[in-house]
Amino acid sequence: MHSFGYRANALLTFAVTILALMCTIGSLSDNLNTPSPSAQIEILNINWFQKQPHGNDEVSLTLNITADLQSLFTWNTKQLFIFVAAEYETPKNALNQVSLWDAIIPAKEFAKFSIHTSNKYRFIDQV
Ligand SMILES: *[C@@H]1O[C@H](CO)[C@@H](O)[C@H](O)[C@H]1NC(C)=O
Repeated sequence: MHSFGYRANALLTFAVTILALMCTIGSLSDNLNTPSPSAQIEILNINWFQKQPHGNDEVSLTLNITADLQSLFTWNTKQLFIFVAAEYETPKNALNQVSLWDAIIPAKEFAKFSIHTSNKYRFIDQV
């Protein structure tokens, strides 16, 4: 009755049950987290504005980016990729989206910051 096979089966069943329980608890704990990230972006200065030879307009901005993203970090967060995109409408395009700046937040301790920077990627509007 208490053969090797029987004991191995009981042990495996117990191990799988505990594993399933831990997976369920882990999954639930992540879903119960309600993050409340906040961010403010302010244009502090328009450094220059110029027309390119082909007619496109290019602008350089100084931005003040302030964010508190700490609540996004849980046991299940490896890192955050964040970006700032300018979205605007022109007669030619109903929606223009230009990526201006991005960053990778590797840990919770870096998730609350205020950065004073110019746009990392060129902000060019199509003619
Ligand atoms: C950037 O914005 C934050 C929050 O709005 C403010 O506290 C800080 O003084 C600003 N920095 C500059 C250089 O304007």
